[in-house]
Amino acid sequence: MTEKLIAPSLLAADFGNLQRDIEMVNNSSADWFHIDIMDGVFVPNISYGMPVLDAISKHTTKTLDVHLMIVDPDRYIKDFARLGADNLTVHFEACTHLHRTLQVIKAEGMKAGVAINPHTGIDSLKDIINDIDIVLIMSVNPGFGGQSFIENTYKKIKQLKELILQKNSSTLIEIDGGVSDQNALELAKAGADILVAGSFVFKAKNQLGTIKNLKQLANS
Ligand code: DX5
Ligand code: ZN
Repeated sequence: MTEKLIAPSLLAADFGNLQRDIEMVNNSSADWFHIDIMDGVFVPNISYGMPVLDAISKHTTKTLDVHLMIVDPDRYIKDFARLGADNLTVHFEACTHLHRTLQVIKAEGMKAGVAINPHTGIDSLKDIINDIDIVLIMSVNPGFGGQSFIENTYKKIKQLKELILQKNSSTLIEIDGGVSDQNALELAKAGADILVAGSFVFKAKNQLGTIKNLKQLANS
C-alpha cells in the first residue's frame, strides 16, 4: 500500500505569526503544504494571493499544493508555476475547457489537480480521469475553514476509486474539508491518498503531535 499523505492547510494558520507556522509545518511529518487561493467570485470569501504564496514558497520545504477557488484559472497558470507551485488544482465547475487547462498546467511542470464541489458527481470525471494527477473531493462547500464534514464524501471516494481502477489510471484522491482524527482512518480506508486539514491542525495546542497523529491514523 502506498503511503497516505497529510497536507496542513494554511488557511487556518495565524497570519500574524506566519513564519512560525510555516516552520512548524516544515518541522512536522506533513507531506504537502495546502494553499487555498480564493477570489471572492467563485467562492464567497477572499483569502490571499501571489505575494503571500511567494513568501511561503521561499520558506517551505514541503510540496506546495495550491488549490485555486477562482474563476477562469487559465489566466494565472504561468504565474503559479513561477511562484513555485508543485501541484495546481483547479475547480471542475470553474473550467470551460478543462482538458486544455490540465495540459497547460502539466506543460508548466506542475501536477494537475481537479477539485469537485459536493454537488458534482464522480461521473463528470469519467472522460478526463486519465489526464488528472489529483482529484480533490471537497468534503465541505469551498470558501471557509472549520465547517462540518459532509458524510456523502465516503461514497464519492469509493466511486472515484472504482473509476480510477477501471480506467487503469494513477490519479491520487485528495480530501479537503472537515478532516480530523474522527474521520482520518475511515477516509484512508475508503481510498483517500491525501488528507488536507486546516483548523484541526492549527487550532490544536500540540500542532506537531496532531499532524503526526493524523499521519499515523491514515496509515494504520
Ligand atoms: C475550504 C478550503 C480548505 C480549508 C479546510 O474551502 O479548501 O482547504 O482550509 O479547512 P478545514 O480543515 O478547517 O475544514
Ligand atoms: Zn483547499
